[in-house]
Order: sequence, then C-alpha cells, then structure tokens
Amino acid sequence: MGLVLRPSPLLRSDARLAAETAFAAQKIVEPPYRPLIAVAQSVMDPRSIVLGFARRSDALTLALMSRDLIEAGLGWEYRSDRLARLIADPETVALVARDGADVIGFAVMTFGDERAHLTLLAVSPTYQRRGIARRLIAWLMDSATVAGMSSIHVELRAGNTAARRLYRSAGFVETLRLPGYYRGQENALRMIRMLRAPGAAVASWRPPMIDKR
Ligand SMILES: CC(C)(COP(=O)(O)OP(=O)(O)OC[C@H]1O[C@@H](n2cnc3c(N)ncnc32)[C@H](O)[C@@H]1OP(=O)(O)O)[C@@H](O)C(=O)NCCC(=O)NCCS
Repeated sequence: MGLVLRPSPLLRSDARLAAETAFAAQKIVEPPYRPLIAVAQSVMDPRSIVLGFARRSDALTLALMSRDLIEAGLGWEYRSDRLARLIADPETVALVARDGADVIGFAVMTFGDERAHLTLLAVSPTYQRRGIARRLIAWLMDSATVAGMSSIHVELRAGNTAARRLYRSAGFVETLRLPGYYRGQENALRMIRMLRAPGAAVASWRPPMIDKR
C-alpha cells in the first residue's frame, strides 16, 4: 500500500469549495443601494438579485441563454446536457443570478492547474447595465484567488464592446487576437486577468498531505 500525495484542496480541482470559501470570507461586496432613477428601472431593486450556485435543474435555462445571448449566429454548442455536466463538474464553478425564482444571469468558469477559464457569461437584456455581470465576475475572481489560480482567461467576440469594457473594468487586458476562432466565422479576442505571478506560492498554500490509508 503506497503513500498517496494529496494536493491541498484549495490549490486545484474543487472549484465549488473555493467559491464557497470566497463567499464565506465575505469578500463579495454587495453593490450599494442606489435610488431608482427611472420609471423603466423601477421594477428592479438591485438588492433583490441574489447570486448562488447553479442547480442541475437550471441547465436548460442556461443553455437557452447561451444560445440566444452568447452563441447567437454561431450555432449552439452549449446545450442542456453540456451545461448539466459543467454544473456537476467539481473543477467548475457555475453561478447564477436570480430575481425570485427566475435565472436572469449566469457565469461558468473552469479551473485548471494554474489558470481558470471563464467559459460563459450572460445577463438577460432587461437586467443589463445594473452591475450583475460585475458581481458575478467579482465572485469568480475571489474564487480563483482562493483556489490559487494565477490568472483567468476569457475569449470574446472581437466586436463585443460591452464584454470588452466589462472585462477591462475588472482588470482584464487584451493579449491576443484569434482569427476565425468562432467556427471559422468570427475573430476572437483573448483577455487575461492576472491574479498573482505564475509559479509563486499563494497564501492559502499548504504542503501536500500524506494519506495514511
Ligand atoms: C456583457 C454582459 C454580460 C454585461 O452584463 P451586465 O450585467 O449588463 O454588465 P454590468 O452592468 O455589470 O456592467 C459593468 C460594466 O461593463 C461595461 N458594460 C456593460 N455593458 C455595456 C454596454 N452595453 N456598453 C458599454 N459598456 C458596457 C461598463 O463599463 C459597465 O459599467 P457601468 O455600467 O458602470 O458603465 C451583457 O451585456 C451580456 O449578457 N451580453 C450578451 C452575452 C455576452 O456578450 N457575454 C460575454 C461573452 S464573453
């Protein structure tokens, strides 16, 4: 019976634990309440939008949002079964923003050894420009930091000004233009948010544990 080296649980793989730890550490700053300034906005109080983990039963809703808001015009790769697998994957954090029972935004990020990849992010049109994507990204960045990731990577359509500004405002920088990245039809931009120097030890690091079974 050999010794099994187990990495610290927060160094890799358990994305959900990292996301829970980030939340419990109360690094997630809720936006200050802003008085409602227009009749059109009066239907939504920003405090009523609650972030949480996606459930298996959310898979179809997220797939439809991906089809209509993210993949529009490119086909439909993120279908219900794929979203269900991502929601169940221990190396992936799938967050949703809910207004009551309705999912009105979501984000999916998968952890690698040192890099996290933000795969999907969308907010329903009627809820956009209320800071919801910013809140989702803040939680994901804290989760990635807790998990010891050195950076977060994301690809976006080159012409997606809204996403580009959003990521820039969260500290992402453009690193590459990827011609024909989307099914040969459309160019992408890759953006990266550095969280720490690659290879540097992180504060949460613990030596590997010896499993004495
Ligand atoms: C991109 C998207 C997720 C932004 O969601 P959101 O909840 O509206 O974003 P936020 O309200 O948190 O915006 C935060 C910042 O991003 C930028 N931003 C967001 N939407 C923008 C827009 N339409 N035009 C310009 N800047 C925009 C602004 O800097 C904004 O800050 P401000 O409102 O104080 O000016 C949303 O427009 C969306 O779902 N688009 C379709 C799907 C998509 O493009 N996903 C990204 C794929 S990589």
